[in-house]
Amino acid sequence: MAEELRVVLRNYGKINPLNIDDYINAGGYKSLEKARSMSQMDVIQEVKKSGLRGRGGAGFNAGQKWMFAYQAQADQKYVICNADEGEPGTYKDRIIMESDPHSVLEGMAICGYAIGANKGYIYCRGEYPYVVDILNTAIAQAKAKGVLGEFDIEVRMGAGAYVCGEETALIESIEGSRGEPRYKPPFPPVSGLWGKPSIVNNVETFANIAIILEKGADWYASLGAPSYPGTKVLTLTGDVVNKKFIEVPTNTTIREVVYGFGGGIPGGKKFKAVQIGGTSGGFIPESLLDTPIDFDSMAAIGATLGSGAVLVMDETRDIVDVVERIAKFFEHESCGKCAPCREGTMRMYKLMSKVNKGQGTAKDVALMERLGRVMSVACLCGLGQAAPTPVLTTIKHFRADYDAKLQ
Ligand SMILES: Cc1cc2nc3c(=O)[nH]c(=O)nc-3n(C[C@H](O)[C@H](O)[C@H](O)COP(=O)(O)O)c2cc1C
Ligand code: SF4
Repeated sequence: MAEELRVVLRNYGKINPLNIDDYINAGGYKSLEKARSMSQMDVIQEVKKSGLRGRGGAGFNAGQKWMFAYQAQADQKYVICNADEGEPGTYKDRIIMESDPHSVLEGMAICGYAIGANKGYIYCRGEYPYVVDILNTAIAQAKAKGVLGEFDIEVRMGAGAYVCGEETALIESIEGSRGEPRYKPPFPPVSGLWGKPSIVNNVETFANIAIILEKGADWYASLGAPSYPGTKVLTLTGDVVNKKFIEVPTNTTIREVVYGFGGGIPGGKKFKAVQIGGTSGGFIPESLLDTPIDFDSMAAIGATLGSGAVLVMDETRDIVDVVERIAKFFEHESCGKCAPCREGTMRMYKLMSKVNKGQGTAKDVALMERLGRVMSVACLCGLGQAAPTPVLTTIKHFRADYDAKLQ
C-alpha cells in the first residue's frame, strides 16, 4: 500500500508554530538565505525545473508564473498568498498555516526576492480568525528576528464569498472593492494588485518552495507523477472510515486514497461515488478508481484534483439530490457579473429541482447538458465554468439515477 509522504507537512506536530526558534532549529529560513545568495533568475529556474504546479486548482507551473512577474517592468510588485479556502470539505491550508506558518512566510519571501517584490499579502478565509492570529504572531516574530529583511507581509481577511478565492476577485477584495473577477488578460503577473505585477499562489504552493530550494529541483521532480510532481494534501470527508487529512505522492490512486488511507466505506456499505476537488469537482464512479490523483490524470477522466477535497458517497446517497444541493450552492455563490453564470446557475438549479422532485423529463436532462456545455465555455471565471461539472459527470456516469426520477 502507498504510504504518506510529508513534504509540505514536514514540521506538522514536530514544532511549536508559535515559536520561530523551533522553525529555525528545524532548518527554517535557510532556504531564504540560500535564495538571496543566488540570482533572481536562478531561483525562478530552480522552481520551474522542480515542476511544481499550483496547488490552488488551476495547476499552473509556479516557476513559469514567477517568470512573467519577474519580466514585467514596474516600480512595485506584490506577492499574494491565497488562503481563502472557501471550498466546502477543504481544510488543508488551515492545517498548513496553523501547524507551520513560517513555511508559508518563507515561501512568500523567496518569491518576493525572485520577482523583485517587497510587499506580500495573505488573504485568509474570514472563518479562520484564530489562523489570522497565528499568522500575525509568526509575521511579528519573523520581523523581530529580521529574517524577512525588507520583505513585508500583511494579513487581510475575506468575508465568506466563495468567488473571492478566484485570484482577480481576491485582488479586487484586497483593494477594497466588491469581490468580482476581472476580465483576463491581463493576468495578475502582468497587472494585478493596484495594476502592478502580482503573484497569486496558494498556501500549499508556497509551503513547497523552501524545501525545493533546500533539497533541489531534481529531488522534487522525482516525487510522484512526472507531469505534476510532489505531494498533495488531501482532506477525506463523507462516507469513509477515516475522516482525516493525508499528504501523499501525486501518483497515488483514488482507490488507495479511499480504501487504503480512508479505510473504505463504513458499515459494510458499498461505494457509490467520490467527488474530488471540491463542489465543482466531477463525480467519479467505481470503474475509474484506479486513476492517479495527479492533475492531468484527473483531467483525462473529466474530473479535477482541485483543492484536494475528497468526498466519498456510499450506495445509500441519492446522487440527484446531492447534485441539486450543489446547484443551489452555485446559484447562491454566483457573483452575478456575467449573464451565462448569473442566469445559468439559476436555470440549472431550477431544472435540477424539477428533476429531483420527480417532475422532470428526458428533455430537461438534455437541456441541462446543453446549458452545462454552454456555461463551461461562456462564463467569465472558473466558478461558472466549473459549476456544471457535477451535473454533467453525474448524467454521464449515473444516468440511471436520473432516469429513475423522470416522468
Ligand atoms: C471560484 C473560485 C474559487 C477559488 N478559490 C480558491 C481558493 O480558495 N484558494 C486558492 O488557492 N485558489 C482558489 N482558486 C484558484 C485561484 O484563482 C488561483 O488559480 C490560485 O490561487 C493560484 O494559485 P496556485 O497557482 O498556487 O494554485 C479559486 C478559483 C475560482 C474560480
Ligand atoms: S462566472 Fe459567475 S462568479 Fe464568475 S464572474 Fe461570471 S457571474 Fe461572477
